[in-house]
Amino acid sequence: MALIELKDVSKLYGFGDATSVALDEVCLTIEQGECVAIMGPSGSGKSTLMNVVGLIDRPTHGDYHLSGKKVSRLGGNQRARQRRDKIGFIFQSFNLLPNLTAVENVALPLLYKGMPQGRRTKKAWDMLERVGLGDRGYYYPRQLSGGQKQSVAIARALVNAPQLIIADEPTGNLDSNSSRLVMELLSEIHKTGNTVLFVTHNPELTRFATRVVYMQDGAIKHDEKTRLGEVGRYARAVMYAVPETTEEDDLAGVSLLMSILGKHNDSPAPRKRTSHAKTKDRKTTSRRKKVPE
Ligand SMILES: Nc1ncnc2c1ncn2[C@@H]1O[C@H](COP(=O)(O)OP(=O)(O)OP(=O)(O)O)[C@@H](O)[C@H]1O
Ligand SMILES: [Mg+2]
Repeated sequence: MALIELKDVSKLYGFGDATSVALDEVCLTIEQGECVAIMGPSGSGKSTLMNVVGLIDRPTHGDYHLSGKKVSRLGGNQRARQRRDKIGFIFQSFNLLPNLTAVENVALPLLYKGMPQGRRTKKAWDMLERVGLGDRGYYYPRQLSGGQKQSVAIARALVNAPQLIIADEPTGNLDSNSSRLVMELLSEIHKTGNTVLFVTHNPELTRFATRVVYMQDGAIKHDEKTRLGEVGRYARAVMYAVPETTEEDDLAGVSLLMSILGKHNDSPAPRKRTSHAKTKDRKTTSRRKKVPE
């Protein structure tokens, strides 16, 4: 049984002439244990998809089954309960409460669950240890680096032992070193049995995924299985085609990726290349504009 099964899921905002289609009849099945990177240009519906899958939002049309249970029509309270028990969320902006220490932030979901304080605190310390912050439990968010804040947020997402971790641009506010640290942490979590969905604009980070889903205009344009450690085929094509590898270029790369996808929707012909490109190599190849034909 699939962990996530979306059938013709649409999400509309507004009414009448002002209606905008954020998700357009999306079908997506994700098995337990996958690590899926979601890519696509700004406004393509990635966060909307994460919010529907994560039971924050309800789809306007279509069916959603989570662990075999139909959840698309649940009311707010039931959705919140399912979310609390099955899903851990990680956001770009960390969403830590500034007046609580790291350990108190991590323990918060257990408080909502009604767990007694002693057990809560012990579990929260265990989680902080797991993310390498056993010595930062009494720090407040303002006393932590971006990477450490995100690690606290990951510990908080894990404390309920959820089946599914959803991370919407978890490295969007981090420098490249902290990004790697956070992605390695998510990867470790994936390897210990969790299903992980993460949104990224950075093709490099598809190395941590077992599958890459590309979105455009609220729809899934391409869906490919990848091997851990390898950049997705389309993402790789974009990396070679973009001259520099700054964050801005990564964003530009996603737009280029989508134009390539637009042209090669049916039979993509990515370049055959077995080894990972190093930055220098990438720069050289980029001048020749090697993109899929
Ligand atoms: N609450 C809302 N009300 C109205 N429109 C919305 C709402 N949330 C999202 N949308 C619209 O839905 C579309 C998809 O938005 P979404 O936030 O899912 O994009 P995204 O792919 O996550 O973009 P980004 O990469 O910038 O985060 C956009 O056109 C957006 O304006
Ligand atoms: Mg978004």
